[in-house]
Amino acid sequence: MKERIEQLLEEVNAFAAKNIEELEALRIKYLSKKGEISNLFNDFRSVPNEQKREVGQLLNDLKNKAQDRINELKEAFEDMLDGKDGIDLTRSSDPVALGTRHPLSIVKNEIVNIFSRIGFVVAEGPEIEDDWHVFSALNFPPEHPARDMQDTFFITREPDVLLRTHTSSVQSRVMTSQEPPIRVLCPGRVYRNEAISYRAHCFFHQVEGLYIDKNVSFADLRQALLYFAKEMFGEDTKIRLRPSYFPFTEPSAEMDISCNLCGGKGCPFCKGTGWVEILGCGMVDPNVLEACGIDSKVYSGYAFGMGVERITNLKYQVKDLRMFSENDVRFLEQFKSAH
Ligand code: DAH
Repeated sequence: MKERIEQLLEEVNAFAAKNIEELEALRIKYLSKKGEISNLFNDFRSVPNEQKREVGQLLNDLKNKAQDRINELKEAFEDMLDGKDGIDLTRSSDPVALGTRHPLSIVKNEIVNIFSRIGFVVAEGPEIEDDWHVFSALNFPPEHPARDMQDTFFITREPDVLLRTHTSSVQSRVMTSQEPPIRVLCPGRVYRNEAISYRAHCFFHQVEGLYIDKNVSFADLRQALLYFAKEMFGEDTKIRLRPSYFPFTEPSAEMDISCNLCGGKGCPFCKGTGWVEILGCGMVDPNVLEACGIDSKVYSGYAFGMGVERITNLKYQVKDLRMFSENDVRFLEQFKSAH
C-alpha cells in the first residue's frame, strides 16, 4: 500500500496539462469517486490496524497534494485567460496600426485648450463667405488690395462669393448674432491666392480670438497673450508688442515671443534678433463694433489672430509648409508621441 501511495505521489508531482480539458481528465483519473486515490481509500480497510495511523496520514497527504496540484494548474490557466501572464488570449493576432493626429490638429487643440482655461469658447463660421463678413464689416476700405483677385479667391463677383482669407470673418458673424459679453476663439482654414512654395500655401489655418465687454483694455489683451505664450512655449517665454496696422483694430500690434530655440540669445532661426513674430492683435476698431450693431460707447474689445502653421513650425521646426498637406506618413508618424 505504501509503495502504491509513493508511486501515485510521484505521478501527482508530475501533473501537467496543456489545457483545461486535460486537467479535468487528470482530476477524474485521480480524484473522482472511482479515481485512483479514492480506490486506495477503499483498500484502506484491509490495512493492518497497527499501520492504519501511518498509512492514513500518507493517504490524506496524497489526496491533499493531488487537489492542490489540480487547483494550482487551474489557476494558472485562468490567469492566462485573464492576461495576467502577459499573454492576452483575447487579443487580435493581426493588430491594427493606430493612426496619428495631424500636427496642425495637435497644435490647434492645444491653442483652444489654453484659451478655454480663461473662458474662451469655440465659434465657427463658413469657409465660403461674402465680401461683407470678410472685408466690409471689418473696416477694409473699398480699394484695399485684399479685395483684389490676386490675393483672394473669388467664386462669383455678383453676388460676391469668395473663400475667406482670414478667420476674422467669424468675428463679424459672432458680433452680428450674439450680445456682449463675447469671448470666442475661432479656429479654421483660410485661403489666399499665393504661389505654393516651402513658405507659402494657398490654404492654411488660423485661430482668431475676440473678447468684447465693458471696459476691456489693451492691458487685458497683453495679459491674455502673455498667459498664452507661457502656456504654449514655456514659463520663461517673454513677449513684446510692436505697433502695427490692421483695418479692424485700433491700435494694432504684432506680437513677438522670445525665440524658443535660443532662448532669446540670437540664432539663425530668429535671424540673430532673439525674437520671433507669432500673431497680430489690437483693440477692436469702433467702426467694426458699430458695423456689427454693437454700441462702441458702451463696449470695447480686443482681437488677435495667429497662424496655426506658424505656431507648429515654432514648436516642431517643420521647414517646408507643403509637408502639412502632403499626407506623407513618414512625416505624420513623427507626431505619434504628441497628443
Ligand atoms: N486677420 C489677420 C491676418 O489674417 C490676423 C489678425 C490680426 C487678426 C490682428 C486679428 C487681429 O484679430 O486683431 O493676417
